[in-house]
Amino acid sequence: MLGISRAAVWKQIKALRERGYTIEAKHALGYRLLEAPDLLRAAEIQSNLKTVIIGKQVVSFEEIDSTNVEIRKMAEQGAAEGTVVIADRQSAGRGRLGRRWESPSAVNLYCSILLQPQIPVHQAPQLTFLSAVAVAETLNQVCQLSATVKWPNDVLVGGAKIAGLLNEMNAETERIHFVILGVGINLNMTAEQFPDALKYPTTSAFLETGRPVDRGSFLCTFLQLLDQYYLEFQAQGFAPIRRRWEGLCTMMNSAVSVEQPSGAIQGTVVGLDQDGALRVHCANGQIERILAGDVRPLEN
Ligand code: BTN
Repeated sequence: MLGISRAAVWKQIKALRERGYTIEAKHALGYRLLEAPDLLRAAEIQSNLKTVIIGKQVVSFEEIDSTNVEIRKMAEQGAAEGTVVIADRQSAGRGRLGRRWESPSAVNLYCSILLQPQIPVHQAPQLTFLSAVAVAETLNQVCQLSATVKWPNDVLVGGAKIAGLLNEMNAETERIHFVILGVGINLNMTAEQFPDALKYPTTSAFLETGRPVDRGSFLCTFLQLLDQYYLEFQAQGFAPIRRRWEGLCTMMNSAVSVEQPSGAIQGTVVGLDQDGALRVHCANGQIERILAGDVRPLEN
């Protein structure tokens, strides 16, 4: 059928075995794939994906500086909406506020997704909440965890950070050119692989459950959920995502203190606004809209 010799097939099988695939050979029958290594290969991911927009093009790297940097270059050269870039390891993984994102090889998920939403620029933060919901729900479905979300864009398990989102935008005043959803999820990272000097408690799915996570199938579930929510967002707007995010946020209806450059604000979290601001009901009866700052539960 392929129009190639047995020797050519054997050469490919040999190459796959060298890359960690377990392939059975039976005389006069052929070859059978028994086990694939836990590598994030674009072709495998794409062949397992059932999505409408996200993952129509998947590009994988064994090592890259940062998937966000790479996908930005691709977007500037006209890559299609839904393009996904994944890497096994990042040499310069980027976190929020100029921080570094620890990205050791073969254990976690580092991916960036390109979107071109037809929404006003000020609504772009809504996509951060959409991606946080998809990350938390994938962790809960696939790893049976109780992941929660923390404003503005952290995903936590038992109060420790398990995933981070670095969403970036290219826009002019009136129009979004593209949005990059950068997602880092600690899946199989061990305690020794976390740097000592982190400012906040961190964890991984493996540390929480003691079970290793198959990164490829985790990624497929995540991209499928993201696709489903993005389609829903296009059809129904932010409201369904906002409800899901509020349902996953443990700080909803509880007392918090928000550190801001102008001083601390105290009050009760009552939800999210259209532009992603956190609504805090203060003792004076006013609703404060928090756009930046560190939100902590108020100790009684
Ligand atoms: C945070 O500081 O919480 C955000 C971390 C975001 C890390 C991800 S990993 C994939 C993508 N590429 C990057 O360089 N950063 C994001």
